Amino acid sequence: MKYYFVNIILRILPSSRFFRLKRLLLTYIGATIGENVRVMRIKVEGVKLRIGENTFIGDETLITGGDSIVSIGSNCDISSRVSIVTGTHKIGDKEKAAGEGYSEDIIIEDGVWIGFGAIILHGVTIGKGSIIGAGAVVNSNIPSGVLAIGIPAKIKKHLNPI
Ligand SMILES: CC(C)(COP(=O)(O)OP(=O)(O)OC[C@H]1O[C@@H](n2cnc3c(N)ncnc32)[C@H](O)[C@@H]1OP(=O)(O)O)[C@@H](O)C(=O)NCCC(=O)NCCS
Repeated sequence: MKYYFVNIILRILPSSRFFRLKRLLLTYIGATIGENVRVMRIKVEGVKLRIGENTFIGDETLITGGDSIVSIGSNCDISSRVSIVTGTHKIGDKEKAAGEGYSEDIIIEDGVWIGFGAIILHGVTIGKGSIIGAGAVVNSNIPSGVLAIGIPAKIKKHLNPI
């Protein structure tokens, strides 16, 4: 129920204001939120959320899944309509293709930039300072200091050393 009410309030509040109140609301659902975190009109369901200081999360970004951790580092920039999804299913049978459900932690390290509409799937770690291009689907680990794009996300180039 806590998630339900917090998501309703987050949806009503203006996107780019009331960041302190939004931090308090996220803390109320058990999240650990760093200083100066700014979230727009996001939705959070089920996960144990940690966000480091100075991180920004854009409009209509969805953080959802089972009872797993979503850890987002400091100085990250998560664009709008990004989906961070810890839950999935084992492959079932013909009667029910979505088999037993499970979830895995997602770790987004410090300084990461995730472009508009990217999808980050269960069990993935995105390394420090990496960039995920708009629309990418990240289904395996991305190391530090790279630009990854596409479906599934692949390294396009190595960025300047950080
Ligand atoms: C990923 C991104 C940062 C790349 O920037 P860049 O380093 O300047 O790269 P370039 O534009 O030179 O493109 C390099 C190559 O990657 C491709 N590419 C770039 N972005 C891509 C994307 N999102 N998906 C697929 N391919 C992409 C380009 O077509 C180009 O391919 P080529 O080498 O075959 O010609 C940028 O394209 C992007 O996705 N930005 C996010 C925008 C966004 O989300 N805005 C919302 C506000 S944060």
